[in-house]
Amino acid sequence: MAEYDDKVLHELDGIREYDNPMPGWLMAIWWGSLIFAAAYLAFYALSFGEGSMEAEYRADAQRAVTEVDAYFAANPLVPPSPADLLAGAGNPAVVEIGRARFVRTCAACHGENAQGLIGPNLTDDRWIHGGTVEQIFQTIAKGWPAKWMPPWGRALKPDELAALVSYVRSINGSNPPNARPPEGDRVVPEPIPGH
Ligand code: HEC
Repeated sequence: MAEYDDKVLHELDGIREYDNPMPGWLMAIWWGSLIFAAAYLAFYALSFGEGSMEAEYRADAQRAVTEVDAYFAANPLVPPSPADLLAGAGNPAVVEIGRARFVRTCAACHGENAQGLIGPNLTDDRWIHGGTVEQIFQTIAKGWPAKWMPPWGRALKPDELAALVSYVRSINGSNPPNARPPEGDRVVPEPIPGH
């Protein structure tokens, strides 16, 4: 091992330790990973900069809003009349169509009895986006994509949309168990004809 003699760091009991620095490429990977980890932490975990999760989340929501707006600008919604929506709320056949759709499509976020889960309680007299049947129709059809209420005006047929509004109106004041606390402004419910 004479060729390494000039590299000997120290010798103990005949065991010699050589000064063998890590090769450059390995050091490059080492420093590279350290710098990458620091940048990754700053951008993703601590949410600095454009690529942060926070910024991506906002950009996603904004994209959804723009896309939904564009769709309904090109395909204008024809809302049913408030009188028809309220009459539906007093018609058990319409309410049943709405309830069946609600359980399949809405219960995951609003709860089986519309008591509220991720989304608000739909049975109380408080509304974030307005509680007239006309406003509820707009909410369900166009959604509030920036707040993660999806738009249903594309996926559901017009009579199903109307039946959902009638169903939601019909369960107003039903007081289901485990209700989410009220959110938004108090709205006096519009009367259902014949009730
Ligand atoms: C992915 C979860 C999700 C699904 C599925 C969903 N919603 Fe929502 N909904 C929300 C959230 C979240 C809000 C609250 C939006 C806000 O805070 O602005 C909301 C709000 C609403 C509102 C307005 C409440 C208010 O106080 O103004 C109505 C009405 C509503 N949803 C009805 C429905 C109906 C009907 C369906 C099924 C066709 C449905 N939602 C499906 C999440 C959902």
